[in-house]
Amino acid sequence: MAILEARELVKIYPGGVKAVDGISLVFERGIYSIMGPNGSGKSTTLSMCSGVLKPTKGRVYVLGLDLWGKDWIEARRHIGFAPQDMPFNPKLSALDNLIWFGLLRNMSLMECRTSAKKLLMSVDLYESRNMLVGKLSGGMRRRLTIASALIHNPDVIILDEPGSGLDPKAKEDLWMYIQELVEDRTLIFSSHDAREVERFSKWTYIFHRGRVVAEGEPRKLIEEYVKHPYISVWFAKDVIPPEINGSRPLVFGSIAWYSLEDVDLPDVISYLRENKMPFKRIEIIEPSLNEVFIRLTGERLME
Ligand SMILES: Nc1ncnc2c1ncn2[C@@H]1O[C@H](COP(=O)(O)OP(=O)(O)OP(=O)(O)O)[C@@H](O)[C@H]1O
Ligand SMILES: [Mg+2]
Repeated sequence: MAILEARELVKIYPGGVKAVDGISLVFERGIYSIMGPNGSGKSTTLSMCSGVLKPTKGRVYVLGLDLWGKDWIEARRHIGFAPQDMPFNPKLSALDNLIWFGLLRNMSLMECRTSAKKLLMSVDLYESRNMLVGKLSGGMRRRLTIASALIHNPDVIILDEPGSGLDPKAKEDLWMYIQELVEDRTLIFSSHDAREVERFSKWTYIFHRGRVVAEGEPRKLIEEYVKHPYISVWFAKDVIPPEINGSRPLVFGSIAWYSLEDVDLPDVISYLRENKMPFKRIEIIEPSLNEVFIRLTGERLME
Protein backbone atom coordinates (compact mmCIF):
# COMPACT_ATOMS: atom_id res chain seq x y z
CA MET A 1 0.00 0.00 0.00
CA ALA A 2 1.34 3.40 -1.01
CA ILE A 3 1.49 6.23 1.55
CA LEU A 4 -0.44 8.45 -0.86
CA GLU A 5 -1.87 7.49 -4.20
CA ALA A 6 -3.78 9.63 -6.68
CA ARG A 7 -5.68 7.75 -9.38
CA GLU A 8 -6.78 9.32 -12.64
CA LEU A 9 -7.40 12.78 -11.22
CA VAL A 10 -9.28 15.24 -13.38
CA LYS A 11 -10.14 18.84 -12.49
CA ILE A 12 -12.36 21.01 -14.61
CA TYR A 13 -12.86 24.44 -13.06
CA PRO A 14 -16.17 26.28 -13.35
CA GLY A 15 -16.02 27.94 -16.74
CA GLY A 16 -14.59 24.81 -18.33
CA VAL A 17 -10.80 25.07 -17.81
CA LYS A 18 -9.42 21.51 -17.69
CA ALA A 19 -6.53 22.12 -15.29
CA VAL A 20 -5.76 18.45 -14.62
CA ASP A 21 -6.39 15.81 -17.21
CA GLY A 22 -6.06 12.27 -15.87
CA ILE A 23 -3.09 12.32 -13.49
CA SER A 24 -1.98 9.28 -11.45
CA LEU A 25 0.76 9.54 -8.82
CA VAL A 26 2.22 7.20 -6.20
CA PHE A 27 4.19 8.36 -3.16
CA GLU A 28 6.11 6.28 -0.65
CA ARG A 29 8.42 7.58 2.09
CA GLY A 30 10.95 10.28 1.16
CA ILE A 31 10.96 13.52 -0.78
CA TYR A 32 9.04 13.75 -4.07
CA SER A 33 8.53 16.66 -6.41
CA ILE A 34 6.13 17.86 -9.04
CA MET A 35 7.83 20.01 -11.63
CA GLY A 36 6.19 22.00 -14.37
CA PRO A 37 5.74 25.48 -15.82
CA ASN A 38 3.10 28.04 -14.80
CA GLY A 39 -0.39 26.74 -15.31
CA SER A 40 0.58 23.08 -15.74
CA GLY A 41 -1.71 21.98 -12.90
CA LYS A 42 0.70 21.60 -9.96
CA SER A 43 -1.28 23.60 -7.38
CA THR A 44 -4.56 22.10 -8.54
CA THR A 45 -3.17 18.57 -8.14
CA LEU A 46 -1.58 19.25 -4.74
CA SER A 47 -4.82 20.82 -3.50
CA MET A 48 -6.77 17.73 -4.57
CA CYS A 49 -4.21 15.46 -2.87
CA SER A 50 -4.48 17.55 0.32
CA GLY A 51 -8.23 17.38 0.65
CA VAL A 52 -8.90 21.08 0.00
CA LEU A 53 -10.10 20.95 -3.62
CA LYS A 54 -12.58 18.35 -4.79
CA PRO A 55 -11.58 16.50 -7.96
CA THR A 56 -14.02 16.44 -10.83
CA LYS A 57 -13.05 12.77 -11.26
CA GLY A 58 -10.60 10.36 -9.72
CA ARG A 59 -9.61 9.19 -6.26
CA VAL A 60 -6.95 9.93 -3.65
CA TYR A 61 -5.92 7.32 -1.07
CA VAL A 62 -3.88 8.21 2.00
CA LEU A 63 -2.54 5.12 3.80
CA GLY A 64 -5.36 3.27 2.06
CA LEU A 65 -8.03 5.72 3.28
CA ASP A 66 -10.33 7.25 0.68
CA LEU A 67 -9.70 11.02 0.97
CA TRP A 68 -12.72 12.05 -1.11
CA GLY A 69 -14.99 9.27 0.18
CA LYS A 70 -16.12 7.81 3.46
CA ASP A 71 -12.73 8.09 5.22
CA TRP A 72 -12.25 11.80 4.60
CA ILE A 73 -11.99 12.90 8.24
CA GLU A 74 -9.37 10.34 9.17
CA ALA A 75 -7.49 10.65 5.86
CA ARG A 76 -7.12 14.43 6.27
CA ARG A 77 -5.52 13.99 9.70
CA HIS A 78 -2.54 12.36 8.03
CA ILE A 79 -1.87 15.31 5.73
CA GLY A 80 -0.17 18.64 6.36
CA PHE A 81 -0.57 21.13 3.52
CA ALA A 82 1.04 24.51 2.93
CA PRO A 83 -0.35 26.41 -0.07
CA GLN A 84 1.79 28.84 -2.06
CA ASP A 85 0.64 31.69 0.18
CA MET A 86 -0.29 30.55 3.69
CA PRO A 87 -3.29 32.50 5.04
CA PHE A 88 -1.62 33.75 8.24
CA ASN A 89 -3.23 36.42 10.36
CA PRO A 90 -0.66 39.27 10.11
CA LYS A 91 -1.91 40.80 13.37
CA LEU A 92 -1.16 37.69 15.41
CA SER A 93 2.28 36.54 16.53
CA ALA A 94 4.13 33.64 14.91
CA LEU A 95 3.32 31.47 17.93
CA ASP A 96 -0.39 32.37 17.99
CA ASN A 97 -0.72 31.71 14.26
CA LEU A 98 0.68 28.21 14.76
CA ILE A 99 -1.64 27.62 17.70
CA TRP A 100 -4.55 28.76 15.56
CA PHE A 101 -3.69 26.23 12.83
CA GLY A 102 -3.51 23.53 15.54
CA LEU A 103 -6.93 24.49 16.91
CA LEU A 104 -8.34 24.24 13.39
CA ARG A 105 -7.01 20.67 13.44
CA ASN A 106 -9.02 19.92 16.59
CA MET A 107 -5.99 19.79 18.86
CA SER A 108 -6.31 20.93 22.48
CA LEU A 109 -4.75 24.27 23.44
CA MET A 110 -2.11 22.42 25.46
CA GLU A 111 -1.19 20.16 22.50
CA CYS A 112 -1.07 23.20 20.20
CA ARG A 113 1.31 25.08 22.51
CA THR A 114 3.64 22.13 22.94
CA SER A 115 3.78 21.32 19.24
CA ALA A 116 4.07 24.99 18.19
CA LYS A 117 7.01 25.66 20.51
CA LYS A 118 8.84 22.54 19.40
CA LEU A 119 8.37 23.42 15.73
CA LEU A 120 9.42 27.04 16.25
CA MET A 121 12.65 25.74 17.74
CA SER A 122 13.17 23.35 14.81
CA VAL A 123 12.91 26.18 12.28
CA ASP A 124 14.93 28.66 14.38
CA LEU A 125 12.01 30.98 15.01
CA TYR A 126 11.63 30.44 18.74
CA GLU A 127 13.34 33.73 19.58
CA SER A 128 10.95 35.49 17.19
CA ARG A 129 7.82 33.66 18.41
CA ASN A 130 6.16 36.86 19.66
CA MET A 131 6.78 38.87 16.49
CA LEU A 132 3.71 39.70 14.44
CA VAL A 133 3.63 37.61 11.28
CA GLY A 134 3.25 40.78 9.24
CA LYS A 135 6.74 41.80 10.38
CA LEU A 136 8.56 38.58 9.48
CA SER A 137 11.00 38.49 6.54
CA GLY A 138 10.15 36.37 3.48
CA GLY A 139 12.46 33.55 4.59
CA MET A 140 11.10 33.57 8.17
CA ARG A 141 7.54 33.53 6.93
CA ARG A 142 8.33 30.55 4.72
CA ARG A 143 9.83 28.68 7.67
CA LEU A 144 6.67 29.42 9.65
CA THR A 145 4.63 28.08 6.73
CA ILE A 146 6.49 24.76 6.93
CA ALA A 147 5.95 24.66 10.70
CA SER A 148 2.22 25.26 10.31
CA ALA A 149 1.90 22.34 7.88
CA LEU A 150 3.48 20.13 10.55
CA ILE A 151 1.55 21.31 13.60
CA HIS A 152 -0.49 18.09 13.93
CA ASN A 153 2.47 15.81 13.16
CA PRO A 154 1.18 14.44 9.84
CA ASP A 155 2.65 11.48 7.91
CA VAL A 156 2.44 13.32 4.59
CA ILE A 157 3.60 16.90 4.08
CA ILE A 158 2.53 18.70 0.92
CA LEU A 159 4.24 22.01 0.13
CA ASP A 160 3.26 24.11 -2.86
CA GLU A 161 6.38 25.94 -4.12
CA PRO A 162 8.13 26.17 -0.75
CA GLY A 163 11.21 27.87 -2.21
CA SER A 164 9.70 30.29 -4.71
CA GLY A 165 10.62 33.94 -4.36
CA LEU A 166 13.47 33.23 -1.93
CA ASP A 167 17.06 34.21 -2.67
CA PRO A 168 19.51 31.29 -3.03
CA LYS A 169 20.80 31.57 0.56
CA ALA A 170 17.31 31.67 2.11
CA LYS A 171 16.27 28.76 -0.13
CA GLU A 172 19.29 26.73 0.98
CA ASP A 173 18.46 27.43 4.66
CA LEU A 174 14.84 26.53 4.16
CA TRP A 175 15.77 23.17 2.66
CA MET A 176 18.06 22.41 5.56
CA TYR A 177 15.08 22.80 7.91
CA ILE A 178 12.71 20.91 5.64
CA GLN A 179 15.05 17.94 5.32
CA GLU A 180 15.47 17.70 9.08
CA LEU A 181 11.74 17.90 9.70
CA VAL A 182 10.77 15.32 7.10
CA GLU A 183 12.76 12.48 8.71
CA ASP A 184 11.11 9.31 7.42
CA ARG A 185 7.82 10.87 6.38
CA THR A 186 6.57 11.63 2.88
CA LEU A 187 7.13 15.11 1.49
CA ILE A 188 5.65 16.23 -1.80
CA PHE A 189 6.61 19.66 -3.13
CA SER A 190 6.08 21.56 -6.35
CA SER A 191 8.62 23.73 -8.09
CA HIS A 192 9.66 25.19 -11.40
CA ASP A 193 13.28 25.29 -10.33
CA ALA A 194 14.98 22.31 -11.99
CA ARG A 195 18.03 22.55 -9.70
CA GLU A 196 15.86 22.46 -6.57
CA VAL A 197 14.06 19.39 -7.89
CA GLU A 198 17.33 17.64 -8.83
CA ARG A 199 18.90 18.33 -5.46
CA PHE A 200 16.15 17.57 -3.05
CA SER A 201 13.76 15.03 -4.51
CA LYS A 202 14.37 11.34 -5.02
CA TRP A 203 11.58 11.10 -7.59
CA THR A 204 9.90 13.71 -9.74
CA TYR A 205 6.75 13.94 -11.82
CA ILE A 206 7.05 16.31 -14.76
CA PHE A 207 3.79 18.10 -15.55
CA HIS A 208 2.78 19.73 -18.80
CA ARG A 209 -0.70 21.04 -19.54
CA GLY A 210 -2.40 19.00 -16.86
CA ARG A 211 -0.67 15.72 -17.65
CA VAL A 212 2.39 13.82 -16.48
CA VAL A 213 4.88 13.72 -19.37
CA ALA A 214 7.63 11.84 -17.51
CA GLU A 215 8.48 10.56 -14.07
CA GLY A 216 11.55 9.15 -12.41
CA GLU A 217 14.72 9.83 -10.48
CA PRO A 218 16.01 13.24 -11.63
CA ARG A 219 19.52 11.89 -12.47
CA LYS A 220 18.12 9.00 -14.48
CA LEU A 221 15.73 11.26 -16.41
CA ILE A 222 18.64 13.50 -17.35
CA GLU A 223 20.71 10.50 -18.47
CA GLU A 224 17.82 9.12 -20.45
CA TYR A 225 16.74 12.30 -22.24
CA VAL A 226 19.80 14.51 -22.53
CA LYS A 227 22.96 12.37 -22.12
CA HIS A 228 25.77 14.85 -22.95
CA PRO A 229 26.35 18.61 -23.17
CA TYR A 230 24.91 20.49 -26.12
CA ILE A 231 25.30 23.87 -27.73
CA SER A 232 21.85 25.37 -27.53
CA VAL A 233 20.86 28.03 -30.06
CA TRP A 234 17.68 30.08 -29.67
CA PHE A 235 16.92 31.13 -33.22
CA ALA A 236 14.91 34.14 -34.24
CA LYS A 237 11.45 33.28 -35.53
CA ASP A 238 11.20 31.76 -39.02
CA VAL A 239 14.85 30.59 -39.12
CA ILE A 240 15.16 26.90 -39.95
CA PRO A 241 18.02 25.49 -37.84
CA PRO A 242 20.73 24.37 -40.26
CA GLU A 243 23.07 21.41 -40.28
CA ILE A 244 26.53 22.70 -39.30
CA ASN A 245 29.70 20.87 -40.39
CA GLY A 246 27.73 17.65 -40.68
CA SER A 247 26.11 18.01 -37.24
CA ARG A 248 22.35 17.72 -37.47
CA PRO A 249 20.64 19.46 -34.54
CA LEU A 250 17.78 18.28 -32.38
CA VAL A 251 15.08 20.88 -32.91
CA PHE A 252 12.35 21.91 -30.45
CA GLY A 253 10.33 24.84 -31.75
CA SER A 254 12.86 27.64 -32.28
CA ILE A 255 15.53 25.97 -30.12
CA ALA A 256 18.21 23.77 -31.70
CA TRP A 257 20.78 21.65 -29.92
CA TYR A 258 24.09 20.75 -31.53
CA SER A 259 26.01 17.98 -29.84
CA LEU A 260 29.34 19.17 -28.46
CA GLU A 261 30.71 15.84 -29.63
CA ASP A 262 30.29 16.95 -33.26
CA VAL A 263 30.97 20.72 -33.30
CA ASP A 264 32.35 23.35 -30.96
CA LEU A 265 31.05 26.78 -30.05
CA PRO A 266 33.28 28.93 -32.36
CA ASP A 267 32.32 26.74 -35.37
CA VAL A 268 28.63 27.25 -34.70
CA ILE A 269 28.92 31.00 -34.13
CA SER A 270 31.01 31.62 -37.25
CA TYR A 271 28.70 29.47 -39.39
CA LEU A 272 25.62 31.40 -38.21
CA ARG A 273 27.34 34.78 -38.72
CA GLU A 274 28.63 33.89 -42.19
CA ASN A 275 25.23 32.63 -43.25
CA LYS A 276 23.43 35.59 -41.66
CA MET A 277 21.14 33.45 -39.53
CA PRO A 278 19.87 35.57 -36.62
CA PHE A 279 19.74 34.03 -33.15
CA LYS A 280 18.74 35.37 -29.73
CA ARG A 281 20.97 33.34 -27.53
CA ILE A 282 23.67 30.71 -27.72
CA GLU A 283 25.06 28.72 -24.82
CA ILE A 284 26.62 25.47 -23.79
CA ILE A 285 24.17 23.55 -21.64
CA GLU A 286 25.07 21.10 -18.97
CA PRO A 287 22.23 18.62 -18.91
CA SER A 288 19.58 19.38 -16.29
CA LEU A 289 15.87 18.76 -15.87
CA ASN A 290 15.32 22.01 -17.78
CA GLU A 291 16.68 20.30 -20.88
CA VAL A 292 14.63 17.17 -20.16
CA PHE A 293 11.57 19.41 -20.17
CA ILE A 294 12.55 21.09 -23.45
CA ARG A 295 13.21 17.68 -24.98
CA LEU A 296 9.80 16.38 -23.92
CA THR A 297 7.66 19.40 -24.74
CA GLY A 298 9.61 21.75 -27.01
CA GLU A 299 8.92 24.48 -24.46
CA ARG A 300 10.91 26.18 -21.74
CA LEU A 301 10.21 25.48 -18.10
CA MET A 302 10.67 29.11 -17.06
CA GLU A 303 10.54 32.27 -19.14
N1 LIG B 1 -9.91 28.78 -9.36
C1 LIG B 1 -9.69 28.63 -10.67
N2 LIG B 1 -10.66 28.85 -11.57
C2 LIG B 1 -10.45 28.67 -12.90
N3 LIG B 1 -9.27 28.27 -13.44
C3 LIG B 1 -8.26 28.05 -12.59
C4 LIG B 1 -8.42 28.20 -11.16
N4 LIG B 1 -7.22 27.89 -10.57
C5 LIG B 1 -6.38 27.56 -11.56
N5 LIG B 1 -6.99 27.65 -12.78
C6 LIG B 1 -6.40 27.32 -14.08
O1 LIG B 1 -5.99 25.96 -14.06
C7 LIG B 1 -4.75 25.77 -14.73
C8 LIG B 1 -3.75 25.14 -13.77
O2 LIG B 1 -3.47 26.03 -12.72
P1 LIG B 1 -2.55 25.68 -11.49
O3 LIG B 1 -2.63 26.84 -10.55
O4 LIG B 1 -2.92 24.35 -10.96
O5 LIG B 1 -1.11 25.59 -12.18
P2 LIG B 1 0.35 25.62 -11.53
O6 LIG B 1 1.12 24.56 -12.23
O7 LIG B 1 0.25 25.53 -10.05
O8 LIG B 1 0.91 27.04 -11.96
P3 LIG B 1 1.93 28.05 -11.19
O9 LIG B 1 3.31 27.54 -11.50
O10 LIG B 1 1.67 29.36 -11.85
O11 LIG B 1 1.60 28.05 -9.73
C9 LIG B 1 -4.35 27.14 -15.24
O12 LIG B 1 -4.78 27.25 -16.56
C10 LIG B 1 -5.13 28.10 -14.34
O13 LIG B 1 -5.39 29.30 -15.00
MG1 LIG C 1 0.88 26.77 -8.52
